[in-house]
Amino acid sequence: METKKSILDLIKSRRSCRKFKQDSVPDEDIKGVLEAAQWAPSGANSQPWKFIIIKNKETMEKIVESIPYKEFQNFLRLAPVLIVVLGNSKKKWHIIDCSLATQNLMLEAWTRGLGTCFSAWWPTAPKKVIMSVKEILKIPEEYVIITMTPLGYPIDPPKEAFHLPAKRKNLEEIISYETFSG
Ligand SMILES: Cc1cc2nc3c(=O)[nH]c(=O)nc-3n(C[C@H](O)[C@H](O)[C@H](O)COP(=O)(O)O)c2cc1C
Repeated sequence: METKKSILDLIKSRRSCRKFKQDSVPDEDIKGVLEAAQWAPSGANSQPWKFIIIKNKETMEKIVESIPYKEFQNFLRLAPVLIVVLGNSKKKWHIIDCSLATQNLMLEAWTRGLGTCFSAWWPTAPKKVIMSVKEILKIPEEYVIITMTPLGYPIDPPKEAFHLPAKRKNLEEIISYETFSG
């Protein structure tokens, strides 16, 4: 297999963004990030994902308004685009598959100067809240919301655009050899 260029620098430079300019995102960039998502691996290549692209601000408002912890999810309405990632719950690995797809999407967005932020309070949200968001977006029963991410040009330099430090643990802390503590 031909050796490919390392993407470690890209991976390390990506930051979650929660503040955005209102400049619109070209359709070709939206398609580009979704194409990256589409090429993620999936269990048995089942590709259980669907992506809803929302540009309508009213819809974004409605979604955020129906969420219990609005202050932590406000960023969902701040970009010109909101992408909702859905997984077909009938497919065994839909949560894993869609999460992988979203990471691809976020990395491709970053290469295009676009910021994203994974939001995943959905698995623990009260059923009533989930149902109301599903109703707003007319999502069929078998699909579950895996995540939502804004997509737009970040306002701040990434360092200032998020509230949590983006530091990572030392590699030594998270790897071992041969056994858990080896
Ligand atoms: C499963 C998951 C859920 C997340 N949920 C939220 C969220 O609800 N709100 C938020 O602001 N960031 C959320 N994030 C983003 C993380 O806070 C962020 O990835 C982490 O702090 C590391 O920062 P970085 O992405 O800039 O490297 C979530 C990330 C993941 C993977």
